[in-house]
Parts: sequence; C-alpha cells; structure tokens
Amino acid sequence: MRIAVIGTGYVGLVTGACLAGFGNRVTCVDVDEEKIRGLQEGTVPFYEPGLGDVILSNQRAGRLAFTTALPEAVRDARVCFITVGTPSDVDGSADLQYVLEVAEQIGAALEGPSVVVTKSTVPVGTADRVRHCVARALEARGAGIPFSVASNPEFLREGAAVADFLHPDRVVVGADAPEAEETLRELYSFLPQEKVLFMDIRSAEMTKYAANALLATKISFMNEMARICELVDADVEKVRLGIGSDGRIGYAFISPGCGYGGSCFPKDVRALRHTALQKGYSPRILQAVEDVNEAQKHVLFQKILRHFGGELGGRVLALWGLSFKPNTSDLREASSLVLIQDLLGAGASLRLHDPVALEEARRLLGNRPGLAFLTDHYEALEGADGLVLVTEWDLYKQPDFRLVGQKLREKAVFDGRNQYSGPELRRRGFAYYAIGRP
Ligand SMILES: NC(=O)c1ccc[n+]([C@@H]2O[C@H](COP(=O)([O-])OP(=O)(O)OC[C@H]3O[C@@H](n4cnc5c(N)ncnc54)[C@H](O)[C@@H]3O)[C@@H](O)[C@H]2O)c1
Repeated sequence: MRIAVIGTGYVGLVTGACLAGFGNRVTCVDVDEEKIRGLQEGTVPFYEPGLGDVILSNQRAGRLAFTTALPEAVRDARVCFITVGTPSDVDGSADLQYVLEVAEQIGAALEGPSVVVTKSTVPVGTADRVRHCVARALEARGAGIPFSVASNPEFLREGAAVADFLHPDRVVVGADAPEAEETLRELYSFLPQEKVLFMDIRSAEMTKYAANALLATKISFMNEMARICELVDADVEKVRLGIGSDGRIGYAFISPGCGYGGSCFPKDVRALRHTALQKGYSPRILQAVEDVNEAQKHVLFQKILRHFGGELGGRVLALWGLSFKPNTSDLREASSLVLIQDLLGAGASLRLHDPVALEEARRLLGNRPGLAFLTDHYEALEGADGLVLVTEWDLYKQPDFRLVGQKLREKAVFDGRNQYSGPELRRRGFAYYAIGRP
C-alpha cells in the first residue's frame, strides 16, 4: 500500500518506518528542511531506542523516503496519516492549525481515492473539520476525488515507541465510512484481529484523551498521597506496594515523583479540560490533576531550600536526568526545567547531566551563567553541595556512593524518583530526601 505520513516527529517517524517494515511504500513529509535532510542521510532527529535501525533498513530497501514536498507524497497515497503536533494554545485548547493546514494541503494534492487518517491527538469533532478542509481544497480545484476520513489516535510511549507500535495493547480506529474501515483493517492486518478496535470517530478521538487523563490522574493521586504520607510519617513506597498488589489497582503509573511532564499528559489534560469547559461543564478532577502536578514540580526545590536553611546563594547542585522520563531526549514540559528555573532564581549554580538530552537542554536553556553541562555523571558532582536525581535513567540506579561522597562538597542527596535507600545513604553519612518517604 502507498502511504504518506505528514509530520516526522515521534509518532510520524515510528508509524512510517514500522509500516514500511510490512512492505508498504511510505513517504514521510515534514516542513523542517534540516530534519528531512538529516533523515535522508540516515540521521534520526531524536533519541528513540531501535528507531534508527528500522528507518535505515527500510530506507535501504527503497520502501521509506523522506521529503518536504507534500504533494508528491500524497498524490497517489491510499492512506494519508496526519501526525503533526497539536500543542497547547494559550487558553489550554489543542492548537489545530498544523492539522488543518495539512488537511487543506492534502485536498490540494490528492489525485486518487484516499483515506485521510488523523493520528495526532485531537479533540472530538476534529475529523469533521479535517473532512471539511480536504473537501474545500478539492472543490477549489474542481476535483471530484472520493476520500474518507478516519481517526487513529496513537498510544505509543516515547522510549518504547517502536515496540509499542509493533505490539500495542490495542489500536483504536474511528471510521464512519466502510472504505475507511476496510483500508485500515488491511493496514493493521499485521496485528491479531481482536487488537484492532473499530468504533465511531468521535469515540475514538475521545478515547485518547480519556486514557492520558486517567494515567495523569493516577500519577497526581500518588503524588498527593506522598504529600499526606510525609505529614503522617508513613512511607508512600510501602503504601504503593500495598495498593499495587491489589488486582483491582495494579502498579502502572502509581510511582510518586517530582511531577509528570512530556509532550502528552500536560497538554492533553489541559485540552480535555478546555473541551469540557467549552461545553459548560467544569471538570473538577482534571483541574485537580493539573494543580497537583504543577505544585509537585516545585517539591524538590522546597526540600533543597529547606535543607540549606532557606539560602541557596553560592550553592552548587548537581542534577542527574533532564529528559521528562528515561530513554528519551524529549524535554517538553519536563520537571527538570521547572526545578532549574527555581534553583537559578534562588541563586544556585547547577551542574547538569543527562545520558542523551544534554544537547537539547543546552539548546533550550542556552549557555547562561550558573549552568554547566557535563557529559560524565560523576564529573557533574565535582564540588557540588548536593545531588538531585530528577529522571530515573538506568545509569543512575546503582551509583558508586563512595565516589559520589568523595566528589560532593556536601553529602546531600535529593531523590525525586524514590530510587535510593534512605537508611543505606544515611548510614554512609548522607542527608537524604525523597518523595513521601521518611
Ligand atoms: N510523542 C508522543 O509520545 C506521542 C504519543 C501519542 C500521541 N502523540 C500525539 O501525536 C502528535 C505528534 O506528536 P509528536 O510528539 O510526534 O510531535 P513532534 O512535535 O515530535 O513532531 C511534529 C512534526 O510535525 C511537523 N510539522 C508541523 N507542521 C507541519 C506541516 N504543515 N507539514 C508537515 N510537517 C509539519 C513538525 O516540523 C514536526 O517535525 C501530537 O498530537 C501528539 O499529542 C504523541
């Protein structure tokens, strides 16, 4: 099948490369010329385990191509995937300008029947707007080409995106027209039939938001439990084990920490809240989830400030982990960024380390005074007054604490992901602070 994928971010690249792996002929499109040039030369624009190999093998086999010329890619594509970003607008709604712009361009370029599939996360009703944009562009050039629209929200996780695409828990497809359903059934025939769930388009669009909002709710709930545990001298990690073992609850997304970030949870919770408000309903849970998370991003800073008696001027802190979660170079809405602003604002200097997100951090934060970017995580500790663990990369899980103690000027560890043993660190002479644990 000929496929066009518009938008070569995490979702577009993984979708395009993996579908090419099943023998389809895929062309991926982006407006970012530098990104496309890099991809043509075999450079993946971000860190995503395993993606480079899938891209390269399909590119070499001639099944996967990259271009900035949308018309060429779309012209004879049986399926056009829209995978561009849907960032938060100022009022919290999903900004659909890129999605609708692409829909218009598809309508201007189509030469044969096609299914236009939105994979980006978009509010209920967006498929109708996509249909309208494509139809308007076709009409403008007097082309009576038949097309249908579908919704196929993506659930992959950065850091495990290729495996998630190839072995998903399920694929959700919203399709109102039989030809769209038939085409997508064929496209997803590499999966067991029961894993491909067909439904109406509006329910498919809503499913993505409901899933992300529920996962974000679990995280914020546990972070609130962590706060309460601190007040009553209980250990939230023990509580986590106690509740996670309950078959009705489970362990997924109940680890307390210093707040969730990323390109999905924060913006999707905001967008869903905005949709509800627009319809006259004030969603209390979603508001609370956002509020708790915003507050949680400052929790480490408060612990650090308290440890140093309310004065951070002249202090140096080492930060381990900058990406919003392990195994990605993505820094969008990462907790680290909030913490860095808090610490710099209070007069501290920072020595930053991340296994793969250092360059992206340098690009975002700039080379300002008070910031040092270190490529070795032990070197980041040299002369620092404390170690702050922000993102739980494997590399940080079993450090040599003897070396950590030697490198640090003051033996203090602020563990934003509850990775270390408090008793063990205290035995070694460290001051140790975690989330919701004594
Ligand atoms: N990143 C994730 O983990 C994830 C998971 C599931 C769903 N989603 C959703 O998928 C969508 C894409 O997310 P992402 O993280 O892949 O985005 P991204 O920001 O990484 O990539 C989007 C790409 O679209 C390109 N683009 C913008 N306008 C364009 C246009 N007019 N023509 C061609 N290309 C254009 C950008 O240059 C960029 O390369 C979003 O709606 C997101 O919410 C993301």
